[in-house]
Amino acid sequence: MTQKTAAIIGGGVIGGGWAARFLLNGWDVRVFDPDPEAERKLSEVLENARLALPGLGRVALPPEGRLTWHATIPEAVDGAEWIQESVPERLALKRKVYQAVQAHCDAGAVIGSSTSGFRPSQLQGCATRPEQIVVTHPFNPVYLLPLVELVASPQNPADMVARAAETLRGLGMHPLQPRDEIDAHIADRLLEAVWREALWLVRDGVATTEEIDDAIRLGFGLRWAQMGLFETYRIAGGEAGMKHFIAQFGPALKWPWTRLMDVPEMTEELAEMIAAQSDAQSGHMCLRALEQQRDVNLSGMIRMLADQGWGAGAVQNAHDAARAADAGLARRLEDVADLSRPILTVNRAVPPDWLDFNGHMTEARYLEAFGHATDRMMELIGCDRGYVAAGHSFFTAESHLCHVSEARLGTPIRVTSRVLMAGPRKMHLWHEMKSDERLLATGEHMLIHVALDTRQACEMPPAMQGALSRIAAAQADLPAPGRGGRAVGHAPQPG
Ligand SMILES: NC(=O)c1ccc[n+]([C@@H]2O[C@H](COP(=O)([O-])OP(=O)(O)OC[C@H]3O[C@@H](n4cnc5c(N)ncnc54)[C@H](O)[C@@H]3O)[C@@H](O)[C@H]2O)c1
Repeated sequence: MTQKTAAIIGGGVIGGGWAARFLLNGWDVRVFDPDPEAERKLSEVLENARLALPGLGRVALPPEGRLTWHATIPEAVDGAEWIQESVPERLALKRKVYQAVQAHCDAGAVIGSSTSGFRPSQLQGCATRPEQIVVTHPFNPVYLLPLVELVASPQNPADMVARAAETLRGLGMHPLQPRDEIDAHIADRLLEAVWREALWLVRDGVATTEEIDDAIRLGFGLRWAQMGLFETYRIAGGEAGMKHFIAQFGPALKWPWTRLMDVPEMTEELAEMIAAQSDAQSGHMCLRALEQQRDVNLSGMIRMLADQGWGAGAVQNAHDAARAADAGLARRLEDVADLSRPILTVNRAVPPDWLDFNGHMTEARYLEAFGHATDRMMELIGCDRGYVAAGHSFFTAESHLCHVSEARLGTPIRVTSRVLMAGPRKMHLWHEMKSDERLLATGEHMLIHVALDTRQACEMPPAMQGALSRIAAAQADLPAPGRGGRAVGHAPQPG
């Protein structure tokens, strides 16, 4: 495969993101930007991209391409088969850049513009070869978000646009092609509407910036993220159907529910067109199946956000924390009712996105649930977030899982935990996962106390050792776990 080369003209927020996407997908990248700070800024964007993009997929990316900086446009575009213009949003400047680019670039190269608002025919206005320029409007961060609006004018030959789309797909992007060129394309039209309303709400003192962000990220933003607008409303229409739902908007469109009062007449034809397009989009799924898919998506997204303590996930975490005591989950050793019994460390139900194609809880989620049980044991002996932030934690050295019985969607699961061995540096845990009295799985884990600066084992502080030993001593008379007893954290015996 021949090495591909992209030229990035303008290496700011967006140009930097493009550079990262091309480079991490194996392209050589040549950058021109007159700003003396551009190299530093772009290298910082690239560092972030290197942390986020390579792990996004399940398949490794190709080896990273070579990044070079160039003092002039002619040098930068030399040998490039893709030229991405991301200079400030000023038409005269962009046109000037195309003239310099086209004087030196390959006539077969694609010149993509990141413009948020200009139409391709505006950009092509003074160009030597207008057919070479298309809009390729990405979204920040360009290296992570797949959407790119590929907008062509009648001047662009169909095969060139198809080739551009193919290249963008090769970068892991989804080229969305508006059926007509209009100012601000598709996505920024929608964003502008929300943005303009938001500015009014702030200006009129109805909501603060944070309250407006909450209105988006705790509710419809999550729905939009996974189904967009029309598929979401299809569900909202319930059994009455899309046409009926859309037709209901007819009168509301005349009410002052928005500052944007230039609205289309909700005619029978428009309602029918939307209903037909919605059928083509989602009609292959019945309403309940669509709802279930939505719930799987939302459940996974909200819990991922909970891991980050962010947005809707932070709301869920607060709810969980408030529920914990009633659900029998202690956060302090003093709150454990009977230390001589296995301690309840997880009490929850199997969520929709924990299932696999067999319709039962997938194996990795057992480890996740046991991981949560381990977290709670750590918290009980004083290894909480504050302790970890201060520089010490536990690393798991070895885990043994036994899958005993199936857990299906919604199955209530409870994990109880025991300390099998407590050492100054070691914690040997035994977890049992049950649904009512049915044993689902066991987990046996050896954890080592470590200093996070050296990443080496070290002794726990006396208070932590004391707490761990208290549990181990209280549980010492419990019978040895039936399925346990296999060596964990010890080298196999010779012979
Ligand atoms: N910021 C966004 O969220 C976003 C999203 C999508 C598209 N866009 C579009 O991307 C383009 C760039 O926006 P940005 O946010 O990256 O701006 P930016 O200000 O961060 O970057 C622009 C860069 O262009 C450089 N530049 C100025 N004149 C130049 C020239 N003659 N030749 C080469 N480089 C030059 C500047 O030094 C700067 O580094 C705009 O058209 C904008 O509409 C922006």
